[in-house]
Amino acid sequence: MRLSPSVVILLLTVCTFLAFAVLSHAEETKGPQPPTGLRCEYLINPLGVDTPKPRLSWMLEHGERGQAQSAYEILVSAGSGTERGEIWASGKVDSAESVHVVYAGTALQSGRSYYWKVRYWDKDGRPSPFSQVALFDTGLLSRADWKGRWIGGKSQLRKDFELRKKPARARAYVCGLGYSEFRLNGHKIGRSVLDPAWTTYDKRALYVTYDVTRYLQPGRNAAAVMLGQGWLKAKVLLVQIDIELEGGERFEVVSDGSWKATDGPIVADSIYNGETYDARLETPGWDSPGYDDSSWSAAETFPGPKGVLSAQMMPPIQVVDTLVPLKMASPKPGVYVYDMGQNFSGWVELRVRGRRGTAVKLRFAEMIYDDGMINQENLRGARAEDVYILKGEGEEVWEPRFTYHGFRYVELDGYPGVPALNAVRGRVVHTAVEPVGSFACSKPVLNSLQRIIIWGQKTNLHGIPTDCCQRDERMGWMGDAQGTAEEAIYNFDMAAFYTNFLRDIRDVQDEKGTITDTVPHVWGSRPADPAWGTAYPLLCWYVYQYYGDRRILEEHYEGVRKYVEYLRTRAEEGLVKYSYYGDWVAVDKTPGSIVSSFYYYYDAKVLAEMARILGKEADAKAYGDLAAAVKTAFHREYFDPKTRSYANGTQTANALPLFLDMVPEGERGGVWGNLFDNIVYKNDSHLTTGIIGTKYIMELLTNAGASDLAYDIAVQTTYPSWGYMIENGATTLWELWQLRQGPSMNSHNHPMFGSVGSWLYKTLAGINLAPGSVGFEKIRIAPQMVRDLRFAAGTTRTVRGEVSSSWSRDERCVRLEAVIPVGSEAEIVIPQFNLENVMIREGDQVIWDGKAYRAGVAGVQSVDKAQGNFIIKVGSGRYDLRLNGD
Ligand code: BGC
Repeated sequence: MRLSPSVVILLLTVCTFLAFAVLSHAEETKGPQPPTGLRCEYLINPLGVDTPKPRLSWMLEHGERGQAQSAYEILVSAGSGTERGEIWASGKVDSAESVHVVYAGTALQSGRSYYWKVRYWDKDGRPSPFSQVALFDTGLLSRADWKGRWIGGKSQLRKDFELRKKPARARAYVCGLGYSEFRLNGHKIGRSVLDPAWTTYDKRALYVTYDVTRYLQPGRNAAAVMLGQGWLKAKVLLVQIDIELEGGERFEVVSDGSWKATDGPIVADSIYNGETYDARLETPGWDSPGYDDSSWSAAETFPGPKGVLSAQMMPPIQVVDTLVPLKMASPKPGVYVYDMGQNFSGWVELRVRGRRGTAVKLRFAEMIYDDGMINQENLRGARAEDVYILKGEGEEVWEPRFTYHGFRYVELDGYPGVPALNAVRGRVVHTAVEPVGSFACSKPVLNSLQRIIIWGQKTNLHGIPTDCCQRDERMGWMGDAQGTAEEAIYNFDMAAFYTNFLRDIRDVQDEKGTITDTVPHVWGSRPADPAWGTAYPLLCWYVYQYYGDRRILEEHYEGVRKYVEYLRTRAEEGLVKYSYYGDWVAVDKTPGSIVSSFYYYYDAKVLAEMARILGKEADAKAYGDLAAAVKTAFHREYFDPKTRSYANGTQTANALPLFLDMVPEGERGGVWGNLFDNIVYKNDSHLTTGIIGTKYIMELLTNAGASDLAYDIAVQTTYPSWGYMIENGATTLWELWQLRQGPSMNSHNHPMFGSVGSWLYKTLAGINLAPGSVGFEKIRIAPQMVRDLRFAAGTTRTVRGEVSSSWSRDERCVRLEAVIPVGSEAEIVIPQFNLENVMIREGDQVIWDGKAYRAGVAGVQSVDKAQGNFIIKVGSGRYDLRLNGD
């Protein structure tokens, strides 16, 4: 399309006008703005909250810099329109707290909707307008609220029921184990798939709450459920629909023996092996009212799992994305192989026309052989095969429900005719955690690294953090979970997810305090390898640090204490030496016992901190003493004064004690020397670490002022390195540094080496919690402007709002833009380099005149110079800093 000059002028005029409108609006938005991002227990408008005293959080908005909250007011009401605050009117509360404010109104009741809004007073006492109204719905708070019985056995269940009037409010509480799809009057309810998340069912089963008001109608209605095997490998369901009719009458539909059941078109389903769907067995209309189910049998009733029922208080698993294939080839007559261009978890949607009874087989793989056929060797016992049998009625579009695969390639066999490129579309399936981070820089290999970290991480969130998503595992391996947690937190909103996973961990703990290598426990051992079991204290600690969540410490203090006490029972000469995996999948092996002892120290130290924060002084002292004793024993046992190395002197063996400051001062130089020699001279600036050493070594180097070396390691492209994976076509992180090592341990989507992801944010973008601060209340922006890096930019949305840092530099100038949320403060550290006579400007105002700080710029509190860095203290706001030198 070509635009005439007059149209172009008109468009320009309109744009200019709009720009002015935006600017003048910005002028008007001075002062405190309505709070945004209202959350209850980390979730936006959650349904089914089952915490008696949920916590409310909001983000502050303000038109000025250097602002903070001095007081807040919360109103909670039963109706969305009234907003009277009859349930809770907090009054004006003098407090800076905008995160995790504990509900303190009248006792919450089961199955109700609560509407809330909040306003705040800024530091100068000016009130903001009220926020928009947010909602939280309570779940079924006691077991007695559940009226139905567990039913199931078959794959399709249904029940018709009558409503005398239009429903005013209806909620469905569904606990369908292993997997379930809930339907009403012909509609699938909710966007989630593979629900509910996997738990230790004997301890806790999760139910999902849906608002189903608009799916119900006066007259006849039908509730219907499809059940899959899931992790339980059994099909059972408990459902309750609570309906309030117009006029106030209440009505319940519950699962019981009056439901009807049959086997449907899903003739086989297994997480690992795939799903077989025979479309000829479909029973159209089965999920709508009036369907003749007289030939169906009565649903069987079951005792159900023993565990408590608790609300699924985290984002559901969803189809998050749809991918079109990159290309299709036919390596053999009748066999078609699609390359989706990306390794991911999920399945494909199939489009096909053909004769009734034709079976199309879809097989999934991460790799292909040289001849173009798919290579499923590394899937071990997982068949990863879906079969669709056509009903022969025009175009048929199908996707499975109760399985998922980890794959990049799809093979089609038995397809009638030659399939088009769009005969399959990739459906990316994982827990729909919100992406909150982004990172980019001037070094392409690091951008690729960020990309494969993201894909590896998100596609391994399936209700629990999984090790991989393709072979016969996909389990909550705890070592992998703890190693990747900080990376995940910078990239995604993990708060609710980890809150749930920590309960999963508690669910596997026994009376002795032991926990297991995988959670829920399927494989691995009890007691867990200490480097795996440490996920319990460390995840608590990360959730506390990054999200400012004190309640998580309260909830798990006793569990973590029992865990550390268990470790103590295993101590030999003050150290915990048992180990199964240690520094797993390292190039240079480190004795497992030093890894276990390191975590014994780490866990005791974290427990002591937890105790201190919770005001348990005696415990804080006792576990502090324990940690000190372990530290002494550690050095005595593993340090070799002759070589000035720990254990066998691998990178990991020396890095671990350095990371936690366990090396006596006099020996530090020697140990550092050994570590440098090993990395730089022996290994040409490559890591030879497994997942444990890798987690700490990059940050350790940065903290010791060796960011250049950490960067050299990060940008390597030869074995062993992340760049080597990328050079060899990785689209997700691998399990091993090497490309191939036999089929049994060779996953190509394994997030655990992605721990380096937090280093990208912390070091290159420079976004850090200030030491001692939690929840990003105090921030330290300290980007390392290393080697040939010309720019880096990172953003992460925290509980207080967006934190971002992006910088660029050339010979004369360093520029840094930072965003600090309202209520937070930051220290921005910028290296001086070789710049002489530096002037620093914020926007166009001078804040450092070459010799001293110049006050007067809003938000900027001070500028100092120390050890070759400028330290600029700022309050909240957006800053554009420029350092210009001669
Ligand atoms: C898993 C790992 C896990 C390990 C423990 C493997 O099979 O895939 O990621 O941490 O076992 O040794």
